[in-house]
Amino acid sequence: MADSAPAFFETLEMLTLSITEDPMADGFAAPLEFTAAIEAETAQVWDKVKHHVTPMEWRAQAPLISAINRLKREKNAAILAHNYMTPDIFHGVGDFVGDSLALAKEAAKSDAKIIIQAGVHFMAETSKVLSPEKKILIPDLKAGCSLASSITGADVRLIKERHPGIPVVTYVNTTADVKAETDICCTSANAVQVVEWAAKEWGVDKVILIPDEYLARNVARQTDVKIIAWAGHCEVHKRFTASDIADMRAAWPGAEVLAHPECPAEILEAADFAGSTAAMNDYVAARKPAQVVLITECSMASNVQAESPATQFIGPCNMCPHMKRITLQNIYDALVYEQYEVTVDADILDRARLAVQRMIDLPPPAVPARYDLVKARHHVDVELI
Ligand code: 13P
Ligand code: SF4
Repeated sequence: MADSAPAFFETLEMLTLSITEDPMADGFAAPLEFTAAIEAETAQVWDKVKHHVTPMEWRAQAPLISAINRLKREKNAAILAHNYMTPDIFHGVGDFVGDSLALAKEAAKSDAKIIIQAGVHFMAETSKVLSPEKKILIPDLKAGCSLASSITGADVRLIKERHPGIPVVTYVNTTADVKAETDICCTSANAVQVVEWAAKEWGVDKVILIPDEYLARNVARQTDVKIIAWAGHCEVHKRFTASDIADMRAAWPGAEVLAHPECPAEILEAADFAGSTAAMNDYVAARKPAQVVLITECSMASNVQAESPATQFIGPCNMCPHMKRITLQNIYDALVYEQYEVTVDADILDRARLAVQRMIDLPPPAVPARYDLVKARHHVDVELI
């Protein structure tokens, strides 16, 4: 790495480092100096992040990465990092990385004593629900989600009163309180499979799929099961428009367009492929397109790029302000001070676990879920509550 930063940047860097250092850390203070040993220890991570992190930033990040990895070993802790984490977290300290489904499964089987959820609050709650004996920490309690905050357990109880006998399928992007009122959870990786399983199991032709309206509409086009939906939205994915894709196609005619199923149907209709964050990752790894547009959160492209250097990743992307609350610094603080612990009330915990565990226990789908609206059998409407 070039070592010729101008004096102005060196001053900035020193400021960053002095903010990082915490005299209250009781022997856990990070070796904040960017030493030759730390440079060598983190060289493989640098290789993965160097297109997204400046050398100046790296001199502050590498010591934190080294300290976090040491603390994890000392405390038997594991970091579950979602695909939307920034590359320094994703490649530098994530022990398990992936989509919501993969992280939920990992939380269930990990034998770490402490789990740090490098993601948002509902993910940490899901980990607690699956592993009540573990200490589950989230580095920033304000890391929320517009989908999770769109609905409460009381709302679900009212929905059930209005639709007795209809199974409730809930997206994992919900609070434990909502999951406790749910028959089975789903993620974008398995929503069609779960909806069809629930309809068959309950012997009905209708399923309540909440709270993501767009996911529900996209699922409805893939199945004969009728869908009752809720008007919750992901604030990141709802911002994309079909004209964004038309503009990208005009500027980059050869690029393949991949979209997340939390986007409105018009986006998926204009895309070449749609799937969960893991499905998008697998698509790029398997097909190695020369140019690709990922219609999703910004860090996704940065993280996938490290594994597919021959592919050119083109914008647009939208940033999730909640995911971006998680930083190397607050992950480090979470480990040092064992903060902020996420707990779930005992009466909610067992009922929520049933819903998540039912999803985990389903056999893997024969074909990975995708939302190919061009080939969808029919366009059907959903009943919006
Ligand atoms: P997946 O990783 O399950 O595709 O979810 C995307 C998302 O928005 C998580 O908050
Ligand atoms: Fe929630 Fe959307 Fe952010 Fe995911 S990307 S945490 S669904 S707001």
